[in-house]
Amino acid sequence: MDMPKVFVSRIIPDKGLDMINEVAEAEVWQDEMPPSYEVLLEKVSGVDGLVCLLTDKIDDQLMMAAGDKLKVISQMAVGFDNIDTTAASNRGIGVGHTPGVLTNTTAHIAFALLMAASRRDAEGARYVHERRWKTWGPKLLMGHDVYGATLGIVGGGRIGQAVAQRASGFAMRILCYDPFVDEAAARAFGAEATSLENLLTESDFVSLHVPLMPDTRHMIGANELKTMKSTCVLINTARGPVVDPLALYQALNDGEISYAALDVTDPEPIPSEDPLLTLDNCLIVPHIASSSIASRTKMSTMVAENLAAGLKGERLPNCANPEVYE
Ligand code: DGY
Repeated sequence: MDMPKVFVSRIIPDKGLDMINEVAEAEVWQDEMPPSYEVLLEKVSGVDGLVCLLTDKIDDQLMMAAGDKLKVISQMAVGFDNIDTTAASNRGIGVGHTPGVLTNTTAHIAFALLMAASRRDAEGARYVHERRWKTWGPKLLMGHDVYGATLGIVGGGRIGQAVAQRASGFAMRILCYDPFVDEAAARAFGAEATSLENLLTESDFVSLHVPLMPDTRHMIGANELKTMKSTCVLINTARGPVVDPLALYQALNDGEISYAALDVTDPEPIPSEDPLLTLDNCLIVPHIASSSIASRTKMSTMVAENLAAGLKGERLPNCANPEVYE
């Protein structure tokens, strides 16, 4: 019997790819760069399943181009703002994603960025590499203490809670803003539930952990940045567009906040002419929060499991659009 046909939009870790090859005839895009939307439209034509990444735009037009056989879209990420899940549900297509496995790995980077920004590690490393280190300096690269400081967590889901767990080891006061997390729920992970405005006013560090949705796009803009302390450090490991990038540049440049540490930017990758790249008080890493060998390997096997279930017409073990089964 013919195996189902699948397009895989990038080379994913071997373990997941091997599992995919056992259940499907897979064409795997070999380039380091993602296929363009036009190429993707061609590649999906007639497939039964699609394995994609957050760099692929998966909209209704693409699903239509795939045709009636498309049963499952399996994304290697927990976030799925690049996929029109409503269109997928309308077409009866299950969308898989990879929640849970990357929680601690992402919280690790969020906290690492917080620590690095607080003590200006990236500037220190540049200073040494540029051969500028002449002597021990009483005022050299002074930063801020994390211990005992106030951390504002915007978004109290799995990753926000895992960041709170790390912050408790530094005796931080933890504030949480999340319309779905009430006082008791916040207390359960050591945080005080509060409004966004109060969180921004009181926090020394603000860490973002919300999905990208219409009402979280530019959730941190000029007004929010003005509300923050001039010593505040902003950490974004969520999605770039949650922060208005121009407003962030202005705030960092004008000293409205002291530092930003970003795993995600808007757009991605950050263009070489982006003014944020001219700032010493902005540390940017290339969207690597989930990139531990263990997490990325597990993400690839979850992708394969979602795909295999979808190809068999079964419920996806990790489904981003459960309404498709209603
Ligand atoms: C996700 O999973 O949504 C991350 O941004 C990439 O791992």
